[in-house]
Amino acid sequence: MFSLPTSMSIIIAPSVLAADFAHLAHDIAKVEAAGADWLHLDIMDGHFVDNISFGPAFVSTIRKLTKLPLDVHLMIARADHYAPRFIEAGADSITVHVEPEAQHDVAATLRLIRKAGVRTGITLNPATSFDVLLPHLPQVDLVLIMTVHPGFGGQAFRSEMMEKVSRARDWRAEHRRDLHIQVDGGINAETATESIAAGADVLVAGTSIFRTADYRAAIQQLRGKTSS
Ligand code: DX5
Ligand code: ZN
Repeated sequence: MFSLPTSMSIIIAPSVLAADFAHLAHDIAKVEAAGADWLHLDIMDGHFVDNISFGPAFVSTIRKLTKLPLDVHLMIARADHYAPRFIEAGADSITVHVEPEAQHDVAATLRLIRKAGVRTGITLNPATSFDVLLPHLPQVDLVLIMTVHPGFGGQAFRSEMMEKVSRARDWRAEHRRDLHIQVDGGINAETATESIAAGADVLVAGTSIFRTADYRAAIQQLRGKTSS
């Protein structure tokens, strides 16, 4: 059954990690023209995850290339220390992890982000229980259910995470109708349909958009529409 509150439409957030960095301006202009709603920016520090991506200077460069909202996903230790630099770089929303390895006071980091007028998000690894999110949900605008273990693009979607998406949907129905539920990792036309059915309204997709020739068709397919 279609489970979105009627006021919500599907938001597509292409993950820049899968873009061609040698042609960044071109890829971003192309994805914006193709109907992307937000840009998803994956920040990896080589500690919290086993990969290093890019930092605030790169975010600030992207800020100059597009008017799309910048959705920053911090896969780093000490988000409390680094969040101000991403706020300064032009982030519109910042999502932080709840695992102990992220080494921060999650509630304090969320307060810091909110105080700066930036939207807040909370997320968890596939191995982390949904219950860990519960104390923070009233303080966030977005909950991200990771559908792969964070660190790398191009991994296979984990269907078993749909149970967490449904729990988030139930929480939204009861407490906060404007909470965004985002999925990230292995999202393609098929897994997008599954995620939307479970309650997701924001779809992050790297490979299935940037590694195709026709971004517009790819985005339309994620929305469940065939492009003509
Ligand atoms: C994974 C990142 C994702 C990744 C998604 O650690 O958080 O945003 O870029 O890439 P795809 O869509 O290729 O799985
Ligand atoms: Zn991400």
